[in-house]
Amino acid sequence: MKSDIKIFSTPEELARSFASWLMDFIAETGKRQSSVTIALPGGNTPRLFFSILAEKYSATQEWGNVHIFWGDERCVPPDDPESNYGEAYELFLKKINLPAAGIHRIMGEEDPDNEALRYSDEIKNNTRSRNALPALDLIILGLGNDGHTASIFPGKMALLDSEKICGVAVHPDTGQKRITLTGRVINNADNIVFLVTGENKARVIQDVLIPTRASVLYPASHIAPQYGKLFWFLDKGAARLIL
Ligand code: 6PG
Repeated sequence: MKSDIKIFSTPEELARSFASWLMDFIAETGKRQSSVTIALPGGNTPRLFFSILAEKYSATQEWGNVHIFWGDERCVPPDDPESNYGEAYELFLKKINLPAAGIHRIMGEEDPDNEALRYSDEIKNNTRSRNALPALDLIILGLGNDGHTASIFPGKMALLDSEKICGVAVHPDTGQKRITLTGRVINNADNIVFLVTGENKARVIQDVLIPTRASVLYPASHIAPQYGKLFWFLDKGAARLIL
């Protein structure tokens, strides 16, 4: 599977370019399908991108058939500063013409095991299926310094091959419970985009994109869309060791 690696001078240039790429993707996909299904990442990296979506694309009508999901969510209420939904909602979802029915948040305030089951059904009921698994049109991911993605952490690799659609994870440092898409659902997507910025990610980018024997310990190394395309949007800081 070939990766398409795009490198940008700054996080701002990356965010602007990816926002434009996303709007083109939504427009093109919307011509072929009645709905466009997209899973968002959490963490800090996408904040700039979310703000640019609100700044530049709030008025577009292209949002009408978009369904937003999350790749993972912290098990906290939606108004908690840690909430991935809360971050996306405040930065852009509440500012664009996307119908409320198109926002499929993970209810972090609920019991994690029950919510993982409920959210699995919500994904199944609102996405296409391929090989008995949900097939999202696009999954946007971040990358942790330890090689985790979504909330699939090193040492907990069973979530990569789980038969489930969503699983419950525990952050190895904070002990925070998380709900995450499993690796098989992620790899069943038509398109996967990693958004990675910052020099602090350079080492893990090198280890994932120029694999060594140790790379298999990184969950992100196991992200390879079986039927689709993989894109890396990197800034120069994150790409420093592969340039
Ligand atoms: C989360 C994310 C997680 C994140 C990486 C990178 O819920 O935190 O889904 O996988 O994308 O940890 O986080 P930063 O963008 O903050 O570096």
